[in-house]
Amino acid sequence: MSLSQTDIDLTNLPRHVAIIMDGNGRWAKKRGLPRVMGHKRGVEVARRIIIKARELGIPYLSLFAFSKENWQRPRLEVETLLKLLGEYLENELPLLMEKSIRFKALGDVEDFPEDLRDKIREVERATAAFREMTLVLALSYSGRAEILRAIRFLTKDFKDGGLKEIDLNDETFRQYLYFPELPDPDLLIRTSGEIRISNFFLYQIAYTELYFSDLLWPDFSEEEFVKALGEYQRRERRFGRVYEF
Ligand code: IPE
Ligand code: IPE
Ligand code: MG
Repeated sequence: MSLSQTDIDLTNLPRHVAIIMDGNGRWAKKRGLPRVMGHKRGVEVARRIIIKARELGIPYLSLFAFSKENWQRPRLEVETLLKLLGEYLENELPLLMEKSIRFKALGDVEDFPEDLRDKIREVERATAAFREMTLVLALSYSGRAEILRAIRFLTKDFKDGGLKEIDLNDETFRQYLYFPELPDPDLLIRTSGEIRISNFFLYQIAYTELYFSDLLWPDFSEEEFVKALGEYQRRERRFGRVYEF
């Protein structure tokens, strides 16, 4: 049985879907191909999911593309990933413009070489006015690094008197995160059968619904995405409260 868009409630979609796109390397290995071929295929799948999310009207889509820990991979793989990212930014700008999608990089962008940083900033600037949908690309991102960075800035504001201890709460803390406007993910999808978070949004996933797929990211599809949305809609989100007694 195939699940189509008509099987989900378009009036009850998650506001923010986050995806850990995992399994590119294994997909390639299974086919006797170099890992980079998996990453190339992965980029195409990401494009299809972005278009689908836009079509459905999901306001925020976050894709984990490169973690802070991924810098520790073999140099050749890191270089290839950076090259792919550069090509991606160049190739996707027209699509983002055509579909009115705002692009935002999330993470320590200063870790990247200057030419890539410029490209990231250029795509952010060119799409900054779009509000229908925001595509967040997590680049050199680590949830712990984000929290520690927030604490560093926060401590500075304490010392300067810009922030009083009594005023520190969830709302004020969020102002120190990379992208304060970003709502918490309602749904987090991870592919490749790994049941872990791998340092993605840590502060933000307190009440996120988690969805794990055994598919390797290059095998993920629009249909699987819709399936995850359907499963999300069948979950009862309680946020620690009691709804029936
Ligand atoms: C996810 O696929 C993409 C990145 C982390 C950049 P992997 O490269 O982690 O693929 P596997 O998990 O080794 O199969
Ligand atoms: C998480 O995948 C990061 C991205 C998808 C970019 P990893 O492949 O790096 O995570 P681990 O090593 O399996 O935890
Ligand atoms: Mg992996």
